[in-house]
Amino acid sequence: MSNPVLENIRTRRVIREMTDEPVDPHHLEQILEAARWSPTGGNQRPNRFVVIDDPELQRLIRLVAPGMFQHAPILILICVDFAIFHHQLDPEDDPLYPIDVGKAAQTMALAAHSLGLSTGPVTSFNKAAVKKILNLPEQVIPCLFLCVGHKAPQTQFAMRGAQRIRWQDLCYRNRYETWDR
Ligand SMILES: Cc1cc2nc3c(=O)[nH]c(=O)nc-3n(C[C@H](O)[C@H](O)[C@H](O)COP(=O)(O)O)c2cc1C
Repeated sequence: MSNPVLENIRTRRVIREMTDEPVDPHHLEQILEAARWSPTGGNQRPNRFVVIDDPELQRLIRLVAPGMFQHAPILILICVDFAIFHHQLDPEDDPLYPIDVGKAAQTMALAAHSLGLSTGPVTSFNKAAVKKILNLPEQVIPCLFLCVGHKAPQTQFAMRGAQRIRWQDLCYRNRYETWDR
């Protein structure tokens, strides 16, 4: 692939071991700015982003997040503010918000990768405990941590699933007919 956007998509990997090197504040702002451009169901924009760079708060979060292997300099917690949905569609009937969270996470991950940074999403954490640690209001639900930092020279936790799969193995034409294989 010679297209730089496609190359960025192809070469991004989830990184679970990071160095102590801080994230340039300008880069962090660019990542958060990228999230603003992520599409959102019904243009409702329920996502809220909490940046956590306090080491003590990060330590407490790791205690309740078994899926967080990273010691990242920056955590970006993507939340959904359910107050947004008042007087509008019931999010439980038409749950677009998890799609919004995923889109924002991937948009930020690709932005970070394009800036030479690494990321890892984490959804395996105790939501009630995280709400308490970060003083989140009742209607704000924590959904996904994006760990942001610099990749350690040697990473042990990489899972390289996509490299074993061809796109043809995942895709069908028309009535779920197999693609030419
Ligand atoms: C919705 C979602 C939740 C995830 N949660 C975690 C997690 O809690 N901990 C973790 O280490 N990785 C988590 N991952 C990362 C996946 O395991 C990762 O995308 C997969 O191993 C493929 O890695 P790659 O993107 O580098 O190819 C999550 C990914 C997604 C999309």
